[in-house]
Amino acid sequence: MNIREQLDQHISVALSQALQELDLEGEFSAIVKQAGRPEFGDYQANGIMGAAKHNRTNPRELAETVLRFINLEEMVDNLEVAGPGFINIHLRSDYLADRLTLMLHDERLGIEPLIPKTVVIDYSSPNLAKEMHIGHLRSTAIGDAIARTLEFLGHNVIRANHMGDWGAQFGSLLAYMDQLSNDADGLSRGLSDLELFYQEASAQFREDPVFAQRAREFVVKLQGGDPKCINLWNQFIKESVSHCQSIYDALNISLTPDDIYGESFYNEFLSEVISDLSSAGLLTESDGAQCVFLDEFKGKDGAPLPAIIRKSDGGYPYMATDLAAVKYRSQTLKADSAYYFVDARQSLHLRQLFAVARAAGYISTAQDFRHLPNGTIMGEDGRPFKTRTGGAVKLADVLTEAKSRAFDLVSTKNAELDQQSRKSIADVVGIGAVKYAELSKNRTSDYIFNWDAMLSFEGNTAPYLLYAVTRIFSIFRRAGVEPSQLTGAIVLSEPAEKSLAIKLVQFPEAINSVVTDCLPNLLCNYLFELSGQFMSFYETCPVLKTEDKTRASRLLLCVVTANTLGKGLELLGIETVEQM
Ligand code: ARG
Repeated sequence: MNIREQLDQHISVALSQALQELDLEGEFSAIVKQAGRPEFGDYQANGIMGAAKHNRTNPRELAETVLRFINLEEMVDNLEVAGPGFINIHLRSDYLADRLTLMLHDERLGIEPLIPKTVVIDYSSPNLAKEMHIGHLRSTAIGDAIARTLEFLGHNVIRANHMGDWGAQFGSLLAYMDQLSNDADGLSRGLSDLELFYQEASAQFREDPVFAQRAREFVVKLQGGDPKCINLWNQFIKESVSHCQSIYDALNISLTPDDIYGESFYNEFLSEVISDLSSAGLLTESDGAQCVFLDEFKGKDGAPLPAIIRKSDGGYPYMATDLAAVKYRSQTLKADSAYYFVDARQSLHLRQLFAVARAAGYISTAQDFRHLPNGTIMGEDGRPFKTRTGGAVKLADVLTEAKSRAFDLVSTKNAELDQQSRKSIADVVGIGAVKYAELSKNRTSDYIFNWDAMLSFEGNTAPYLLYAVTRIFSIFRRAGVEPSQLTGAIVLSEPAEKSLAIKLVQFPEAINSVVTDCLPNLLCNYLFELSGQFMSFYETCPVLKTEDKTRASRLLLCVVTANTLGKGLELLGIETVEQM
């Protein structure tokens, strides 16, 4: 149990004892939260007022009675009734110091072991018939942060990159490859610029009816397993996957080729889906297509809205593959949960998917299959972010620009550093800035892509946080100490030390809040606040200019802070630097 939960449990028990003593009724929770302002203590219990209201009694009096039943000496040094009936909770400094000492020697930073669950995380999942663009940043960065965090907590995480590597969109690509393969190195030259390749293939599809017909035939051949066709397809997928992998590597995303469970992977299970749905009595034929109609889905006009499982031409659409994936995740991977990090614009598709899957008995009530939608990245004009000519903004270009802008930033900040060091720092800062800008926004909202904001040293940004980390490392350097070798005891006497300590021991609570609704921005907020507390500590409490015991204690506080910031950034998939 983290501190908040412990306080909540204790005070909830005291509340029910107080209610009994006063002959009042009902079951209420203490509702302990982190206090919003220092004058309200470190935590605050807000649930007493509800209990009083229910019993039509004076909340302050009830709170006073609750106080008599609270027995928290080892954690708390002062409790007071405040306002209309809150209880303000002030933690003991020695208790905080003990917690910090435990954190110091604990790789899990005070997070207790839990019962591991198997969690499938469907994220990134680009369509391979296009180059990765800025829109892919959202699911990719957020899904990865959640995967890392759940893994850190001790869960069994299965990363599932549901790449769009199959289906009709490959017809024109394969036909175009086939055409290029007449010329010995035409094909490899063509594939060396994937984006151009896509454009040329689709242009020819639009303009040349003979080519378009061939493209359609290629789709049929591909689905029929024609060897020549499969061979071309394999070549294409290999190029395209390696393009994605280079983006993942550059972005420090933990996905590897082993995590690819693309649409083609489910090909062999598609006919099973049809027979399952048919034996469950769910399939209806409509205009030659096999559909599932569920009452809860209606179109705009109120007409029933089908989930199409097999098209009239025999092809299997997105829904069919996704159903096969649900079955696989549920029955083969034995997922307790499956999180789908997918754009909000696919909400209807995913609602239908889960509803059909439940109707088919693929998901039991104990399994938690969820869509975790994300909003859109906007340009400065408030419309979805596009290039000046209206094209998709390539992720590869964004990363190149981020590094180059960060290089300028690092060069102004620290002109004395040699060029090579500035470059390697800039790479970390640039990539970190793009990722952090993404992760620090609420997953569900749209946000405006803004270079100046993400590369600022002020505010909740990567440069600010990375700079805070370098500050701590510079203390260690100047002290000539190795952080892991430090000894001594932590003693908290100054208010700034105590505030920093409280923020530090709240790390488990922050992590908990992140995984509850899969919101990495809550971890960003925590790290930003922690850096702020560290900066105030650093300004008011000299570290190196003090005597033995205080110096040792403050250095240890720096170590816990460095470890916590470092771990938090690692869970976000953001690298750090020792100087900048
Ligand atoms: N490939 C899809 C797209 O680019 C996203 C897939 C999301 N995952 C899923 N299981 N449907 O739109």
